[in-house]
This record gives sequence, C-alpha cells and structure tokens, in this order.
Amino acid sequence: MDVEEALEFVDHLALTTTGKHLDSLQKAILRGTWNNQKYKEIAQHHNRSEKYVKEVGFKLWKLLSVALGEEQVCKANFRAKLENLRVGNISLFGNGCIHIGNISADSSQSSKNLQPEPQYNDKFNEPTSNAKPKVCQDLGDAPEPNLFYNRTSELTTLENWILGRTRVITILGLSGIGKTALTLQLIPQIQHEFDRIIWRSLRNSPPLASLQTDLIKFLSQQQESASPSLIECFRSHRCLIILDDVQTIFSSGQLAGNYQPGYENYGAFFKQITESSHNSCLILLSWEKPREIAALEGENRPCKSLQLNGLGPEAQEIFREKGLAEPEKWSELIDLYRGNPLWLNIVATLIQDLFGGSVSEFLSYDTLFLGDLESLLDQQCDRLTASEQQAIAWLANTPEPADISKIPENLQLSPPELLKVMQSLGRRSLVETVKQNGRSHFTIGPVIREYIINKTRHKN
Ligand SMILES: Nc1ncnc2c1ncn2[C@@H]1O[C@H](COP(=O)(O)OP(=O)(O)OP(=O)(O)O)[C@@H](O)[C@H]1O
Ligand SMILES: [Mg+2]
Repeated sequence: MDVEEALEFVDHLALTTTGKHLDSLQKAILRGTWNNQKYKEIAQHHNRSEKYVKEVGFKLWKLLSVALGEEQVCKANFRAKLENLRVGNISLFGNGCIHIGNISADSSQSSKNLQPEPQYNDKFNEPTSNAKPKVCQDLGDAPEPNLFYNRTSELTTLENWILGRTRVITILGLSGIGKTALTLQLIPQIQHEFDRIIWRSLRNSPPLASLQTDLIKFLSQQQESASPSLIECFRSHRCLIILDDVQTIFSSGQLAGNYQPGYENYGAFFKQITESSHNSCLILLSWEKPREIAALEGENRPCKSLQLNGLGPEAQEIFREKGLAEPEKWSELIDLYRGNPLWLNIVATLIQDLFGGSVSEFLSYDTLFLGDLESLLDQQCDRLTASEQQAIAWLANTPEPADISKIPENLQLSPPELLKVMQSLGRRSLVETVKQNGRSHFTIGPVIREYIINKTRHKN
C-alpha cells in the first residue's frame, strides 16, 4: 500500500463511519505522518496551530482504532499498521462499505474486536492523561532516573536516529560514563513514537532463547502458547527494546566483542534485527562494541553507534551539589577524570571525606588518587588479553601520544597484531586517538594510566 492508497482507504473508512469525506487538513496529517513529519511541520505548512493539528490528528487515530478494531492506532504506528494490511485483504465496495480480512468498517461490530487495555508501567507516563494514547512499557529492569546534566547533543542525535528509523543503536562507553542515565533521559523524549517499550539488563547473562521468550511475551501481550516470532512483533507494533549491560555476554580474555561460548547466537540476532524490514528499534548499552555491529554500522545504514564521552563544564554541577570548595579548580579535576560522572562523584566524595572539600589540597599530591575507582577499573581491565595488557602498559609508560608504526622491541607484537589490539582497546573505550602531523597517535587518559602503572608496579 502506498500513501495514496492509504488515503483512499482512510477516506472510505471516514465516510462509512462518520458520513463525511476527509477534509484537506486531515489528508495533510495523514500524508505528513506517512512521510514522518512532525505535527509542528504539518501545522506550519497549513498555517494552523500545532495544538489544533494535534487535536484533529488524535480524532483521526481514534476513528482508525475503532474502525480497524485493532489496538490503538497512533501517529507513530499509523504507517506500519496500514502497510501491514495487505492490499489483497482490503475490498472497497461500491456501497461505501469496507472489509479488511474479516474486519468490517461497521464501527458497532468492529468495536467488539477491541483488545483489552494493556498494563502500563507509569515510570515515565504522565499521570494526567491527555488525548494521546499511552505507550505500553515495561521498565521494571531499569534503574530510577537520577540527577542529570546536559547531554543535549547526544539526546538530539539519538532522537534523530530514532525518527530516521534506525533499527539498532549501540551506546558505548566506559563504566560510569552515563549510558544508562542517558537512555533513561531519552525515553520520555521519544516514547510517543512507540507502541511498546521494554528495558532488560543482561547482567545475569540470559541465554538468547530465554531473553526472546521474555521479550515476545511482553511485546505480543499474549500467552506463550500462541506466541509470534520477535520479528513479527517488531512488524506488528513499533517496539523499542533496550538491552543494558550487554558486555556480560562477551568473553573475558579475548579481544573486545567476542561472545562467550553459548552466546554466539546474539550476533546473528543483532544482524537479523538490523537487516529485516520493520519499524522497531533495539538499543544496546555496552562497554564493548559487538563485532557484528562494527561490520553493519554506517551513516546511511539502519545500524549506528554512539561513543559516549565524558561531560564537559556542566560536570561542575556535580561538585556544586557535593559542596566542594574552590570552583576555579574544578575544570582541572574534570579534565583529569575525563568528565566521567561516576568517577567525578567518587572523587568529590573522597575530597570531602579527606580534605574537607579542598580541591587544591587534593590536586597537590603528585600521583592521581584512585581509591574506589580501582575496583571499578579492575572489572574492565581484567577482561583484557595478554597482548592488550602489553600494549596498554606500553601506552601507560609513554607520556606522549604513541605512533604505532614505531613498535618498541619489548612489545613482541607484529604490526598486524598491534593494529588488532589497538582496535580492540578502542572498542573498549580504553584508548584515545589523537591526530598529530596528519597521523593517528594513541594514548590513554590519566586515570587509566595511573591505574595501569599501579598494576604493573604491583606485578613486578
Ligand atoms: N549527565 C549526567 N549528569 C549527572 N549525573 C550523571 C550523568 N550521567 C550519569 N550520571 C551519574 O553517573 C553515574 C553513572 O552513570 P550510569 O550508571 O548511567 O553509567 P553507565 O555508563 O551506565 O555505567 P555502567 O556501564 O557501569 O552501567 C550514575 O550515578 C548517574 O546518575
Ligand atoms: Mg549502565
């Protein structure tokens, strides 16, 4: 079905259920929605207020929901719903009566087909209901949102990707950088685009089959006996699935993004979701980039990755909230701890506990104090291969960014091996790349450097 067929179809529906044809604004809303326009844009083109256009839109979705006898039709799922109605299944009769499969456009009959109201988890839905249909959400596995500063550009990027129908989005970054917090912030911004939203953490490394059963149960809102496949769920509703802590399915002691034995099928799953035709979206939050994602992603592809870096000056709010002294020293602290909000919180507490909030006293020590950060970094760095450990120790002991075309003899890695290792360390967000004289050089941040130097000192 194309947009003109869809318009003709809805016009017949409107005629049979209300006795009137669609007017020009209603047609514009349907056309705009089909082409992924926002209410604001449609309103601008038609010199109407956004509020009025929304009201007309909501009445249209309501009419369609009742007439199709389906679950709620809304702006986000209108196109998918109509595209899912096979043209061969629709008959337009001369008397103005429409049949879609076994559904008739007689609203008194079709209303019997209405599904029971889904269960809502109200973590993000406004308690006061306006005319907008609510999204069916299961966010039970997500932590509560906390204080949150900035990240405007990241949120805009993610929103644009979602509006542009990206199917798989991976948010990557070190532990504590704010992947979970960012995604929690994103949900209220884009939830109206989806019919179903589910958040699951992979922290207990569920096998793919049990994760899929769990997802299908929620997404199809059906008992297991009649369950469709996940891709069918993705096609029949616009679904958003968030999988947090994805690194737990990857193997420790292997290069980044290699699956643990028994978890390799996750790779095929990510690939299938990227390559199949549907309007749903999977968001992965991980320390490591999955191998398939590295191969599938691209600017004009439905698979994209966001490398999350630290906070900028706005991280000062963390210190203000913790009551630290000497604001003129705060930016130095943010630089040293690379704007990682978890690290900044830990270090601010430490400065309060040991130095009564004096940042300069803390900074006067020659070595960077890690404290509780050490055990956090252990979790990430214990996963490195022996070659990665060698390479990162070399970088830790090289004060200036290193040129990998000049491999030191003690490294015992061939050029291709070193390239692979650097790529893997990059996929773990442990290594930073800087351009010098047109060539890429590699380095590590001060916290990781201090941590690696301490570790090698203990080993020797
Ligand atoms: N933009 C932000 N403003 C203020 N605090 C933030 C921000 N982002 C994250 N935080 C805080 O930093 C801490 C770490 O954030 P979060 O749990 O989102 O990190 P993460 O990247 O998901 O880490 P992990 O990989 O270990 O799960 C949390 O306490 C969170 O509230
Ligand atoms: Mg997290």
